[in-house]
Amino acid sequence: MMQSPPIPHDAPPVWRGQPIVLVGLMGAGKSTVGRRLATRLGLPFVDADTAIEEAAGMSIADIFERFGEAYFRDGERRVIARLIDGRAKVIATGGGAFVNDATRALILSDALAVWLDAPVEVLAERVRRRDTRPLLRDRDPLVVLRDLAAVRNPLYALAPVRVPSAHAPHDSTVRAILEAIGR
Ligand code: S3P
Repeated sequence: MMQSPPIPHDAPPVWRGQPIVLVGLMGAGKSTVGRRLATRLGLPFVDADTAIEEAAGMSIADIFERFGEAYFRDGERRVIARLIDGRAKVIATGGGAFVNDATRALILSDALAVWLDAPVEVLAERVRRRDTRPLLRDRDPLVVLRDLAAVRNPLYALAPVRVPSAHAPHDSTVRAILEAIGR
């Protein structure tokens, strides 16, 4: 059997029209950047957290409170599997989605994952502006985000595209993604 030529590790990931899925910790800007990226590419934008809330008919905070995190993760896995349907679109995921083995495997095989990476100090400042995230309720966001980063960053690093989203305005993050995917 003919072997395909080896792909150099640093070859730019060329986007082939599959769904583009933004991953990364809370506060990375996945929804804002995703919406603008979709506009630039002329594609639909879907926020997976919003799709989960619509499917459940309640807020994420309420799902966590009434049914617990495991239930939320299961719904998240099913909703993302439904959203990755082969059609070109931009999907923003919640910070824990890519940590789930099944969801990550699906995204890596059928979509193009883009990790929006920012230092936890920057993320902690950003998430302080909104208090609807159940994992941060009544806790110091910097401590939570540090713990999550230790576990999750090695997994986010499996995304073929990594774009820093530290202090840059969202539009320059969008430009960095477009460049990274060969657009
Ligand atoms: C979560 C992140 C949230 C949301 C839920 C759990 C996480 O989404 O899915 O509160 O586990 O990191 P954002 O990353 O959009 O805040």
